[in-house]
Amino acid sequence: MQRFLFIGANSDMAIAAATYFKQQGIEVIGLSRTECSNEYSQSFQISGLSETDFPQLDGQIDGLVYFPGSVNLKPMRSLKEVDLLEEYKINVLGAFNSVKAYLPNLKLSQQASVVMFSSVAVQLGMPFHASVGMNKGAVEGLVRSLAAELSPEIRVNAIALSLTETKMTQRMVNTEDKKQAIAQRHPLNAIGTLEDVTHMLEFLLTPKSSWMTGQILHLDGGMSGVKK
Ligand SMILES: NC(=O)c1ccc[n+]([C@@H]2O[C@H](COP(=O)([O-])OP(=O)(O)OC[C@H]3O[C@@H](n4cnc5c(N)ncnc54)[C@H](OP(=O)(O)O)[C@@H]3O)[C@@H](O)[C@H]2O)c1
Repeated sequence: MQRFLFIGANSDMAIAAATYFKQQGIEVIGLSRTECSNEYSQSFQISGLSETDFPQLDGQIDGLVYFPGSVNLKPMRSLKEVDLLEEYKINVLGAFNSVKAYLPNLKLSQQASVVMFSSVAVQLGMPFHASVGMNKGAVEGLVRSLAAELSPEIRVNAIALSLTETKMTQRMVNTEDKKQAIAQRHPLNAIGTLEDVTHMLEFLLTPKSSWMTGQILHLDGGMSGVKK
């Protein structure tokens, strides 16, 4: 039986994917700051994302997904160094620490895959996205570096998203007008859904993508590659 580990297990995307994988008979372990729902076969509460915060697990992990992230959209003059450093800890250092912590478990798998999350704002400069761009840009660098260092045993890829409806983006799409306005900025005239993310995770976490590592897959309604 395949066994996945979701860090930041109370992300809306994590819960949607855990529900789907449970139906497929895949065991998913969740780590979160708050209590996890029963989509997870096993779960642990963690107080932070430092090296010492991750509980030791026995046995193989076939897929590790690092969900934690933040959206701090502000003009440059309003971005404080202390906030940028905190966001770097959540988006980047925690990702590094979690892969380091579970490397022995990933090495026990015959098909280990790690997935992280980036943003369309790395490829496409956008106003007020300096914090997102810096942090997710670092995630993309980490993905390529780890993919090189850990191949051929462990694959490492990222999903670079445009706006996907979750609690993180709720206030940007909390009326039909706002939702439509954002959808219209995408060549495919839509914002992302939890199903879109689950499908991509299934592809990246299973042998369906066994010849792929070090890639940043753009799941963004065409925004990064097509002029509207
Ligand atoms: N939604 C979008 O449009 C969008 C666009 C681009 C990229 N992304 C990325 O997609 C990933 C999932 O986000 P989501 O949209 O599913 O958001 P969400 O439902 O709001 O989930 C937020 C995630 O961040 C973690 N988190 C937030 N603050 C934290 C903190 N201070 N310390 C530790 N963990 C913290 C949460 O962990 P807990 O389980 O502990 O709560 C959870 O995993 C993130 O990396 C995000 O940057 C999302």
